[in-house]
Amino acid sequence: MQILFLGAPGAGKGTQCKRVAKQLNIPHLSSGDLLREAVKAGTEAGVKAKSFMDQGVLVPDDVLIAMFRDKLSSSDCAKGFLLDGFPRNLAQAEALDAMLKEIKKDLLCVVDLKVDPSLLTERITGRRVCTNKACLTPFHIKFQPPAKEGHCDTCGSTLMTRDDDKEELVAKRLTTYNEQTAPLIEYYGKRSILKTINGDGEPEAIFTELLAALQSKCHA
Ligand code: AP5
Ligand code: MG
Repeated sequence: MQILFLGAPGAGKGTQCKRVAKQLNIPHLSSGDLLREAVKAGTEAGVKAKSFMDQGVLVPDDVLIAMFRDKLSSSDCAKGFLLDGFPRNLAQAEALDAMLKEIKKDLLCVVDLKVDPSLLTERITGRRVCTNKACLTPFHIKFQPPAKEGHCDTCGSTLMTRDDDKEELVAKRLTTYNEQTAPLIEYYGKRSILKTINGDGEPEAIFTELLAALQSKCHA
C-alpha cells in the first residue's frame, strides 16, 4: 500500500502519518525527519541540507531523490509505505514516478491535508517534538500538550523545539510551499487518487476521516 501526504508546513502531516502508519503497519517516511537525522549524524547529505533547511527553502533535489531511492528499494518498504514531505516539487514527483515504475509499484492514494493558512503559524511556533529518534512524536504547547510538561507521552524522552520553527522562518516556509509544493495538488489531481481532507479540527476526528478515505480509495 503506497500512500502520499501533501500539506503545508504545520498542517498536521506528521501527527496524522504516525497514527496512520501504525494502524496500517507500514513505514512512515518523513523527509524532514530523515533530513534532521542526517544533519545530526553529520552525513554528507546532512551537511549539504542544513543551510537550506535553516533558510526555510527546499534542499536540492539530488539529496532527496537519492535518499528516497534508497528507502523505497529496501525490504522494509516491500509491503508499502507512507510518504510525508517527499515529493515537494514537480521534479521530485517525476523522479518518484520513475522510482515506482522501477520497483513496479503504484501510488494508491494521495492525501491533501488542507488547513486554513491563518492557523499554521501558531501550530508551528508552539510545536515541541520528542527527541528520541525512534519516536519523534509532535506535541503542541496549547493544542496537544504532553501530560508531563517537556516530556513525551509515548516514550518519556525530553521534548525540543525544531531549529526551523522560529516565527521569522515560518513565512518563508509557507511561501516555498505555495510556490513549489502546492502545484503537486494539480499534478496528482489529474489522476483519480487524490483525496482532500480537512485538517482543521480535533486530531482524533481527522484520523477517523482519514482512515475512512484510505479504506475507500485503497482498501486500507
Ligand atoms: P518538514 O519537516 O517536512 O516540515 P514541513 O513540511 O514544513 O511540515 P511540518 O513538519 O512543519 O508540519 P506537519 O504537517 O508535519 O505538522 P505536525 O504534524 O508536526 O521539512 C522541513 C524542511 O526540510 C523543509 O523546510 C525543507 O528545507 C526540507 N525538506 C523536507 N522535505 C524536502 C523535500 N522533499 N525537498 C526539499 N527539501 C525538503 O503538526 C504541527 C503542529 O500542530 C504540532 O505542534 C502538532 O501538535 C499540532 N497539530 C497537529 N494537528 C493539529 C490539529 N488538528 N489541531 C491543532 N494542532 C494540531
Ligand atoms: Mg512534519
